[in-house]
Amino acid sequence: MNLKLQKIITIDGPAGAGKSTLARELARRLTWIYLDTGALYRAMALTAARRGLDPHDQAAAEEMARSISLSAHPKPEGTAILVDDEDVTALLRSPEVSRNAAVISAWPGLREALLGIQRALGTRGEVVAEGRDMGTVVFPEAGLKLFLYASPEARARRRCQELTAKGEKVGFDEVLADITARDEIDCSRPVSPLRPAPGAVTIDSTNLDIDAVLKVMINAFRNRFSPGILIKGNRQ
Ligand code: DC
Repeated sequence: MNLKLQKIITIDGPAGAGKSTLARELARRLTWIYLDTGALYRAMALTAARRGLDPHDQAAAEEMARSISLSAHPKPEGTAILVDDEDVTALLRSPEVSRNAAVISAWPGLREALLGIQRALGTRGEVVAEGRDMGTVVFPEAGLKLFLYASPEARARRRCQELTAKGEKVGFDEVLADITARDEIDCSRPVSPLRPAPGAVTIDSTNLDIDAVLKVMINAFRNRFSPGILIKGNRQ
């Protein structure tokens, strides 16, 4: 067993459960590296669209994945992605990219192409890796595996609040339908479907705020790794 892999925390879970916020904050507190693997799938979706490829076209998507020059650069705020030396990070959050990423991430050849990049970043150790298959496929030997769940209704409510705060008008039903559709895609794909890894600690955040979930995560970390360790203070 690779001892460095032990020093990895994986956080998997459905869209909108708060994985990014929590993984980023946990990494900051531990002074570990934050790795957002969804950014890699988003970069694949963006590149497919730019090349005029249909994300439903498995052969085209897998061929693109084998030939693309893509690199990931973890930073405290997120994971920067370069495609052919162009920094595309700022282009990865649009609704179109989100929709296409959900489709394109189903293709096994594309997932395989991203495996090496993710594992190479993980071998440094002291990484908090966030995604859908971190504990099940990419880092099965991780020292601590977390699965973050929240009911679809709770996730839709939070998403509506976020969008309203940004001044965007959205209906609850529309957001809920979008979340349910993404859950269906994530959970039903034959390769690396979303599910808790064996031995994962599942945290149901339906009725918990971010700080409460963070406390649960830090307790799980202390139990698993270092009971006496000093962890950085308040959220920033
Ligand atoms: O976490 P996110 O919304 O940024 O992820 C974007 C898409 O990529 C999402 O549809 C699921 C997929 N994904 C995946 O299949 N495996 C991962 N490890 C991370 C993301």
